[in-house]
Order: sequence, then structure tokens, then C-alpha cells
Amino acid sequence: MMTAFPVARPRRLREKEKMRLLVRETELSPQDLIYPAFVTHGRGIEEEIAAMPGNFHYSLDRLLSHIEEWQELGLPGIILFGLPASKDSQGTEAYAPEGIVQRAIREVKRHFPDFLVLTDVCLCQYTDHGHCGLIQGQRILNDPTLELLAKTALSHAEAGADVVAPSDMMDGRVGAIRRTLDDHGFDHVPILAYSAKYASAFYGPFREAAHSAPQFGDRRSYQMDPANAREALKEVELDLQEGADLVMVKPALAYLDVIRLVKDHFHVPVAAYNVSGEYSMIKAAAERGWIDGEKVMLEVLTAIKRAGADIILTYFAPEVARLWRRG
Ligand code: PBG
Repeated sequence: MMTAFPVARPRRLREKEKMRLLVRETELSPQDLIYPAFVTHGRGIEEEIAAMPGNFHYSLDRLLSHIEEWQELGLPGIILFGLPASKDSQGTEAYAPEGIVQRAIREVKRHFPDFLVLTDVCLCQYTDHGHCGLIQGQRILNDPTLELLAKTALSHAEAGADVVAPSDMMDGRVGAIRRTLDDHGFDHVPILAYSAKYASAFYGPFREAAHSAPQFGDRRSYQMDPANAREALKEVELDLQEGADLVMVKPALAYLDVIRLVKDHFHVPVAAYNVSGEYSMIKAAAERGWIDGEKVMLEVLTAIKRAGADIILTYFAPEVARLWRRG
């Protein structure tokens, strides 16, 4: 039973900074953050992504030169996105042994064996039509895509990836990937499933950055309807049945309720992807002086944790870690 005012005065616990810290419920820490990094062919390339200030297309040599800093800042790892040399209808470079992501995994793990390398498993950056699966006419094919996704995940595991993360939203992909990994001796490699991935307009800047916008139609035949929350539980449940070790909700900010639902229903770590549009909005408003970008960044990331995310994938990761270091 709670006492009422004037006996109860919640402000008593808010008066002093140390007292506020003592009763703080949620702690944001660099060790929970995964930084999405874009890697491209070539040398000496470090090209800022226009809509995502502070984020770059790195050639492998430049990527390696930054990882040392990220590791020292206390970030546990990155999730890699590749820009292929060429695209085709089958997304061939997605599963090529000498693909840009496969080469990046090998080099990063050779130089920084303790730094976690997660990989995004999808075809959309590698297909000329920009869809996440194979197509027939205007249809996105499910089952024929599974084999290519499994092949992609296997190529990442063979290169040394610590975690593979399918983001395509085809039905049955987690099971297909799990079987293929296990059959090839990679039963120790965990799967982070983008389980509740919504057909969101917040991916706009990423699609510019990754050159992965669909060339016809949209992704609503495979990504989820933003109006649905119960369906997220179904997606998570299926992915767990198929062998997912970690599950993800994406985007994060407009889906805090979904993060909380998933957290309360299942006993696995929950990741949330603080996506490109969520990043760019804050950067754009801060540039105009309309908000305090640093404070809004911390507030948003803390809210994502408070909603139940154990892991946050965010373009803010190095910035947060630098702030953290300064104290
Ligand atoms: C690939 C993929 C996307 C993102 C991560 N993996 C784009 C999409 O589904 O169109 C979005 C990330 C972001 O917006 O930051 N399927």
C-alpha cells in the first residue's frame, strides 16, 4: 500500500545528483551497443554518408584503422554491411568467398580477434532489383531464397563471423541457416534474428547509404505492418522454434511497446535496432539548433533500454562511448 501526499513526496529522491543516480533504474553502457559499419571495395576510402553525418563508407584498410579506437572505447563489436562491386539478379556477392563482407570479416578477426563481428545476412544490397529475396516477375519468392540466405550465412561463418543476423524476413530463414551452419561444423555460431522487422519509412537514409532501395514496389510483402504488435510475438516465437539465439525488434523508437512485449514474453536477450532515420532526424534537428542532439541521443537510447532492449544497434555507438569516456 502506498502512502499519499503529503507523507509521500517523490521529489525527496530527486533533490541531489548522487541520490538521483542511486535510484536510477536504467543504465546505458557502451558494452551494450553494436555499431553498424559500411564496408566497400577499394583502398583509402572514407566517404561520409550525406544523410548520416559521422558515418562513413570505409574501404577495408580504413575500417581496420578505426576498429582500434572503437575497441578501446569499450564497444563490443560491429555489424557489417557490404557494398558489393556489382549487383545481379541472384545477389551473387552476398555469398562470394571473396565478397567484401567475407574479406572484411577475415581481416577484422585477424587483427582484432576479441572484437565481435556480427554480419547482416540479406540479399537486398547485392541484387540488381534491390529486394531481399529472389524475384519472379513482381513476386518475391520465399523458399528458393532460403538456400541463398543459408549460403550467405555459411560464408560469413567460414570467414569467422561471431554472429550472423538475417534481416530479410523470409519465412523459415532461421531454420534454414541453423541447419546449414550445423551441417558444416558451425553449431557454435549464434543467430541474431531480425524477428520483428517492420516495413518502415525510417530506413530511408540506410537505403541511400547501402544503395539498397527496391527498384520496384516496396517491402510490405515480407516486412511487417507497423500497425501490428501481436504478430511480432508470432514472428519471435517462430524464430525461436527455428533456433534463433537472440531476437531483434526494428526499428526501435516507434516500436518501444513491441520491445517490451517481446521482453516480457520470452526469455532470450532482445536486441533493438535504432535505425538510420532515427539517427538522421536527431542529427538534422540538432544541426539546426532545434534540439540538443547529445541529450536527445542519450534520452532515446536510454528509453530503448528501459523498454527492454539488452542490446542496441546504433549509429550513435562511438559518440556515446566517447561521451562515456569523458564521464
Ligand atoms: C537489409 C537491412 C536494412 C536495414 C538493415 N538491414 C534495410 C531495409 O530493410 O530496407 C536498415 C537499417 C537502417 O535503416 O539503419 N535488409
